Amino acid sequence: MAVRRLHPDQPAHFAFTPENLSWVSETIAKYPEGKQASAVIPVLWRAQEQIGGWITEPAIRVVADMLNMAHIRVLEIATFYTMFQLAPIGSKAHVQVCGTTPCMLRGSKDLIKVCKSRISDDPFHISADGAFSWEEVECLGSCANAPMVQIGKDTYEDLTADSFNALLDGFAKGAPPKPGSQIGRTASCPEGGPTTLSDPALYDGSRIGQWQKRLAGGGGTAPATPAAPAGPSTPPAPSAPPASAAPATEAKPFVHPAALAAMANAGIVKELEERSSGGKPIAASELANLAQLARVKGPAAYGARPDETDGGKA
Ligand code: FES
Repeated sequence: MAVRRLHPDQPAHFAFTPENLSWVSETIAKYPEGKQASAVIPVLWRAQEQIGGWITEPAIRVVADMLNMAHIRVLEIATFYTMFQLAPIGSKAHVQVCGTTPCMLRGSKDLIKVCKSRISDDPFHISADGAFSWEEVECLGSCANAPMVQIGKDTYEDLTADSFNALLDGFAKGAPPKPGSQIGRTASCPEGGPTTLSDPALYDGSRIGQWQKRLAGGGGTAPATPAAPAGPSTPPAPSAPPASAAPATEAKPFVHPAALAAMANAGIVKELEERSSGGKPIAASELANLAQLARVKGPAAYGARPDETDGGKA
């Protein structure tokens, strides 16, 4: 990346137009008290747009003062991000060609050749007609559609030397093509259309609940449920259903009152509602009653076997 320095010829001063000043005030007001510096990027960008595509030293000072920032901090931002231009640019387009590895492997050198032949041998030099300028930049985040260029706020992707020439022709005539892929791709989808997830059944709702049916029907596909460990620490389980009862998977699980209280205390209200009261919240008084029953009458009062709650010592 080129060294980024302020242009040697600077205007004497900068002031936002009334319209831009109003926009800037609204933008700064979006940030909480003490965090106004967070507006620095959009405010600098607005200044750049007003100046005609580049940012001047007086503008940096004005923006810093508005945001209560040190001048050097705004200078650091303006000289770091390649979205800010530090010198005058072409009146119709300043072309930023990505030269990082994916774009380089896919032909960015050809695009740079076009820049050199049509605009100027050197970056940051304005073309003879004043319309264009160019520079090479690092990755602009469209690697999947390499090679690409950015002009202003837009990116133009999947370029060849020919399509890039056509792009510049469009800007010269004031009718640039649509941004994005120049070979008709949607975003970074595969060329020629989708190659995966193409089964219509994925989108018509017919698959909803299929996995539950597979599990309920057995079918040899459901994963085996691991056996509960034996011993005093075994969590409470529902009483064994009679042979004719519904399958165990449909039985409502038994939950120890102490576990209910623990879940309530832990804020697991949804779990509590679903497992223990058919969708209704359990009132604190009910929990207290259950706990009292457990203390006074023992586990049998709420249907648990002694070995389910205290290791069989009760
Ligand atoms: S390498 Fe060119 S956009 Fe990422």
